[in-house]
Amino acid sequence: MAEKLMPAEMRLLVTGGAGFIGANFCHYWRQRFPQGHLVVLDALTYAGNQASLAGLMNQAGFHFAEGDINDTPLVEKLLHEHKLNTIVHFAAESHVDRSIHDPDAFLHTNILGTHSLLRAARKVWLDAPGGVIPHRFHHISTDEVYGTLGPQDPPFREDTPYAPNSPYAASKAASDHLVRAYQHTYGLRTTTSNCSNNYGPYHFPEKLIPLVILNILHGRPLPIYGDGQQVRDWLFVEDHCQGIGLILERGEEGESYNIGGHNEWTNLDIVRLICELLDTAFAADSSLAQRFPHAAPAQGKAAERLISYVKDRPGHDRRYAIDASKIGRELGYTPQHSFAEGIRKTVDWYLQHSDWWQPLLGDAYAQWVQKQYAG
Ligand code: NAD
Ligand code: DAU
Repeated sequence: MAEKLMPAEMRLLVTGGAGFIGANFCHYWRQRFPQGHLVVLDALTYAGNQASLAGLMNQAGFHFAEGDINDTPLVEKLLHEHKLNTIVHFAAESHVDRSIHDPDAFLHTNILGTHSLLRAARKVWLDAPGGVIPHRFHHISTDEVYGTLGPQDPPFREDTPYAPNSPYAASKAASDHLVRAYQHTYGLRTTTSNCSNNYGPYHFPEKLIPLVILNILHGRPLPIYGDGQQVRDWLFVEDHCQGIGLILERGEEGESYNIGGHNEWTNLDIVRLICELLDTAFAADSSLAQRFPHAAPAQGKAAERLISYVKDRPGHDRRYAIDASKIGRELGYTPQHSFAEGIRKTVDWYLQHSDWWQPLLGDAYAQWVQKQYAG
């Protein structure tokens, strides 16, 4: 068993730390280890938002570097200057629909960008005189690399063969293989996690759950792709962060761990549930109708009336489900949030944080939505 870093000794480079899961992870980690050293490297693409790191930016031991993971010399410089021994790699192009419209950026960031990080880590941690041992490169991946399941198929396990269907999933699969190859060939100390759909605070409103919440608040249609019977396995983002933390502390070099919530929902049921939660929230608090006068429930209509069936996503995966028994058995992982609790927290967070999401709904967002539904 390889020597491991204790959490207090870990000095982290968090790539993509201004994105949805990366920012949640930074908050989670700093809460657990307030004295720890953490550097975020983020290119601040449309999905990156420094506001998601509010409260951390001025803390001692927290540093933000704006830059591309493809800038290998910059990564090497950060590893050297901050004496970093751990990389937690979130940075990616993450939206399946965007990968269908325009795959190039997905190959650039998800494949070449991951390779740039691996190259930098190898150079600084393995090849430089003295090197940095122990170290850890943790790669954040997705259940989408396994492809799609039929209704009766068993959930994805770590040994399920890869069968990625979208350009996004294919680019993530390629990055997983590169991580594996760097461990096998050069002895870089890597781990990988493949997680199911996350939801929670700081989620960019192009993804189903935040999009539906904000569209209800603006009285806009709720687009359901195809028949809405596709199934996703939803996990509260803090529970994903907890799983990553456990892998950093106890995970075995070269291993992959699936993380999931045992929480399968059809898209249509999820959307109906969010409609109900917002109807109830508006009924309980009359100030919401003043703050969001265009919302369906502010106008005496059930939010569900906004549901609108639209053309299906090309190549749409029908069902994802994760078998998370390995991380449970080997690392003691159990999600801490029930779905009822997590989704309520999420809806409340969006109701209370219009200051966070309002600035995101500018021209670029409107253009993307328009392009998306133009067919
Ligand atoms: P996100 O799109 O919200 O954030 C991605 C972040 O990466 C942004 O801050 C962006 O600015 C940054 N970034 C993009 N390209 C970059 C580049 N070239 N250099 C530096 N930074 C760059 O994504 P997310 O939903 O937080 O996903 C994070 C990771 O988790 C991704 O690797 C994704 O594949 C994986 N994942 C996501 C989910 C999910 O449900 N969202 C589930 C499983 C796995
Ligand atoms: O499974 C993990 C993956 O989950 C991550 O790797 C991806 O980064 C993340 O984006 C997510 O991918 P999905 O494609 O499952 O998430 P999205 O929120 O885009 O869509 C969820 C489901 O809802 C999917 O079946 C498509 C459907 N959908 C989505 C949108 C945006 C709709 O029906 N209408 C919509 O407007």
